[in-house]
Amino acid sequence: MPFDILVLSVGYTGLLVSKALASHRNRSKFTFALAGRSISKLQRITSDPGLIDIPTFQVDIGDEVALRSLISQFKVVINCTSRYYQLSLPVVRYGTYSSPYVYFDYLLELASVRASTI
Ligand SMILES: NC(=O)c1ccc[n+]([C@@H]2O[C@H](COP(=O)([O-])OP(=O)(O)OC[C@H]3O[C@@H](n4cnc5c(N)ncnc54)[C@H](OP(=O)(O)O)[C@@H]3O)[C@@H](O)[C@H]2O)c1
Repeated sequence: MPFDILVLSVGYTGLLVSKALASHRNRSKFTFALAGRSISKLQRITSDPGLIDIPTFQVDIGDEVALRSLISQFKVVINCTSRYYQLSLPVVRYGTYSSPYVYFDYLLELASVRASTI
């Protein structure tokens, strides 16, 4: 696996997570990359001085093949997309095809919790 951590989506939360990883005290011990569906947003984010050398990948979560292929390159995925009730389950499901694999997100959307436990 070429990378340790994937930050999936680079909206408000994804940017905060990316900056926290970039300035982490153990930064030299892990690699990470950013993924989003908008190339222009990825380019804007990596123009931030703290994120300038971070690799980026374009992916839409609705694209099963691309998402699976991307996730398989990482040990950990931090899911920062919105609309978890629609978008988190595919990420979890596709992730189970790669091993080892760890999934994190910021579950503030209770509908997705309910959906995943049905
Ligand atoms: N904002 C907060 O203070 C906060 C705090 C804790 C937890 N959270 C949780 O974090 C999650 C994200 O919130 P946010 O405020 O960061 O939202 P946001 O700024 O709207 O970011 C959401 C990201 O999801 C991406 N996205 C949407 N559909 C996608 C798809 N089909 N494929 C790939 N990417 C897609 C969006 O991409 P585009 O930019 O291309 O639209 C955007 O970058 C929410 O579940 C929220 O409950 C937020």
